[in-house]
Amino acid sequence: MNVYEVVTGSTSIDGLRRAERARPEPGAHEVLVRVRAASLNFRDIAVVRGKYIGGPLRHDTIPLSDGAGEVEAVGEGVEGLAVGDRVVATFMQGNPPLALGSPLDGMLTEYVCLNANGLLPIPSDLSFEEAATLPCAAVTAWNALTEGKTVRPGDTVLTLGTGGVSLFALQLARMAGARVIITSSSDDKLERARALGADETINYKREPDWDRAVRGLTGGQGADHVIELGGSGTLPNSYRAVGPRGEIALIGVLTLPDGDLSPHAMMFKGATMRGIFVGDKALFMGLNRAIEVNGLKPVIDTVFDFDDAVEAYNYLRSAQHFGKVVIRI
Ligand SMILES: NC(=O)c1ccc[n+]([C@@H]2O[C@H](COP(=O)([O-])OP(=O)(O)OC[C@H]3O[C@@H](n4cnc5c(N)ncnc54)[C@H](OP(=O)(O)O)[C@@H]3O)[C@@H](O)[C@H]2O)c1
Repeated sequence: MNVYEVVTGSTSIDGLRRAERARPEPGAHEVLVRVRAASLNFRDIAVVRGKYIGGPLRHDTIPLSDGAGEVEAVGEGVEGLAVGDRVVATFMQGNPPLALGSPLDGMLTEYVCLNANGLLPIPSDLSFEEAATLPCAAVTAWNALTEGKTVRPGDTVLTLGTGGVSLFALQLARMAGARVIITSSSDDKLERARALGADETINYKREPDWDRAVRGLTGGQGADHVIELGGSGTLPNSYRAVGPRGEIALIGVLTLPDGDLSPHAMMFKGATMRGIFVGDKALFMGLNRAIEVNGLKPVIDTVFDFDDAVEAYNYLRSAQHFGKVVIRI
């Protein structure tokens, strides 16, 4: 079968190469999936650059955590899944849970064999391409808004940038009746975010002190929820942008350290910060229910062909995208 591998010790996108592997056979409780689409996340760039958790890869690894396809065969003892079913894989697999696409082999392959517990039915209105965007970015956004301090109608949600996680946060927050403030480096992307339902927009390049704008838009209070995707470069602003008893969902590492990281600005407001690592299968099921009931459609920027996977990586790296980048397989 055709796959891509990130080679051992890879430190750049040059480490992504085409390869052939034997098609796996499903063992007991396993399901063979013909993968139809996979999506990229920021982490996949980190993996190929040797910058993900654990450093450069110690063995050749099929990349990408996120993929969807149809059941090709089932092993002994599999219940509830049959040949032809449309399925999406959970980000974490097994016990102890490990992530697809590093350290486990991932979804940029024609076929994958997974334990039946690591698969979920695709929401009925979604295509393979759309379903492939969910496991990492959408589950993370769902976790940020529904665990910890739960989003309520009328809350203000601040989300940073217009990448995959941020646009899911925008859509899910609007679905929950919240008011959404979104930032971007691009006025054009902010316009598109408004069309998607954003109430307020801030260009963070033009307004590096964007926390001030957030306070201005919230009567001096700050946001109830901050979807913190920038990491150490944006945290100082997020500390100041969060409101009384608000929550910062600590998710991303898009930026390098910049400014004073001391969290004292949060202390006086009784705000909290909650670390997030994607989310478990139960959260993914709750997300899928919400997608079904509300008809949410993931925002896909571009679908690349399997042969153009390297191009897809370079496109994500260039940060021109709005939402998700997908590879059809
Ligand atoms: N903890 C977890 O479980 C978890 C799960 C998923 C993702 N993440 C992390 O969350 C972050 C986002 O992931 P993703 O896959 O959604 O990324 P992505 O789709 O590649 O998003 C990239 C976008 O982030 C925005 N951005 C870059 N620098 C920014 C800054 N200084 N301020 C605000 N926005 C900035 C840019 O938006 P504009 O072009 O609009 O400026 C850029 O296009 C990454 O750090 C990723 O590692 C963590």
